[in-house]
Amino acid sequence: MIVGVPKETYPGERRVACIPAVIPSLVKGGMEVRIERGAGDAAGYPDAAYAEKGGVIAPSRERLFEEAHIIAQVRTLGANPDRGAADLPLMRRGQCIVGIAEALANPGAVRDLAARQVRAWAMELMPRITRAQSMDVLSSMGTVMGYKAVLLAAEALPKMFPMLMTAAGTVTPAKVLVLGAGVAGLQAISMARRLGAAVEAYDVRPAVKEQVLSLGARFVELPLETGDAEDAGGYAKAQDEAFYRRQRDLLTKVVAASDVVITTATVPGRTAPVLITADMVAGMTPGSVIVDLAAERGGNCELTKAHETVTAHGVAILGPDNLASTVPYHASQMYSKNLSTFLLHLVKDGEVTMNMDDEITKATLLTRDGDVVHPAVRAMPGAPADG
Ligand code: NAI
Repeated sequence: MIVGVPKETYPGERRVACIPAVIPSLVKGGMEVRIERGAGDAAGYPDAAYAEKGGVIAPSRERLFEEAHIIAQVRTLGANPDRGAADLPLMRRGQCIVGIAEALANPGAVRDLAARQVRAWAMELMPRITRAQSMDVLSSMGTVMGYKAVLLAAEALPKMFPMLMTAAGTVTPAKVLVLGAGVAGLQAISMARRLGAAVEAYDVRPAVKEQVLSLGARFVELPLETGDAEDAGGYAKAQDEAFYRRQRDLLTKVVAASDVVITTATVPGRTAPVLITADMVAGMTPGSVIVDLAAERGGNCELTKAHETVTAHGVAILGPDNLASTVPYHASQMYSKNLSTFLLHLVKDGEVTMNMDDEITKATLLTRDGDVVHPAVRAMPGAPADG
């Protein structure tokens, strides 16, 4: 069973799907790993390091696709629609494609993969169950994003984060507000605390309060009726517009009093809720910073522009793109662990198992035998009808 690791082609992508350190475990699981030349360079993993761990450098990308039974990527077609299309003609019937597919955002790409008769899996659809925790790329990448968001904020803020008592006077700590305390938000809280900021956080899921407090931050209590805020998977449920309006009203003062706001609030399958309006930005002190981690999902701030930094009323609003890729060494290490654990779960006795009774396979398999098989993708507009 040959696993092929191509170089990522999404513009600016520096991660690699498989780092040298995971090769021995894959080999033990009956797999051979082939790498496209230079695939790990941008993440800090040179070809020689792969060879040292038993990886084989493929003579070309074409040969890699030709020989591999499984293609392991960070971004498969849906998450790399423009340049990823160049790989479609290289794929062959029955080949397995594993990576982040953005399947729900880009169901057309899933249909294109089905048309190539490949079997494709979406790492981002990994179920949030204990058994799959070590395969959960959203958590891994969320951790990296939360970390980096704080560094971006610290860099953009004209103030220091920690309290300092010096001969030249006292510096008061920066006030950081984190909206949405999921994986990325909790990591942001912890990083901002490490840098010495005074941190507050808010989330619609009341269950999060304890985690926020345990990191040394204050939990912002809003007198809002959330009802059952959490779905069975632990994600936030969508609320109605009246709820979001009231939430914004209640958050106005807290946002105005913050030097930095890091927003991470998303609801699966929806555009991100607007938590900060243009008026709320106008109420902030000039020099303040918003880092909107939901930028690619529409943004938590009304003024956010994905992939750009906007300045409004003296407030810098950052909508960073592909943040995990800016820390490629560790992001690749974590992604590789997730992906290799998943491959070891799938491959048994030299075969890729297709056990549809398995919760992990069922949740992540997108295409098989020329069909789109994932129910949520099938249910999307333009998808083929059942039957
Ligand atoms: P996410 O990226 O979908 O959302 C980030 C945060 O935004 C969530 O905490 C959500 O509650 C919050 N949010 C949504 N709407 C909001 C609003 N209007 N105002 C304020 N906050 C809002 O979520 P993420 O970080 O991927 O995970 C969320 C939860 O999923 C975790 O806290 C956990 O309960 C569960 N989870 C379970 C895992 C497992 O058991 N293997 C692994 C990872 C996560």
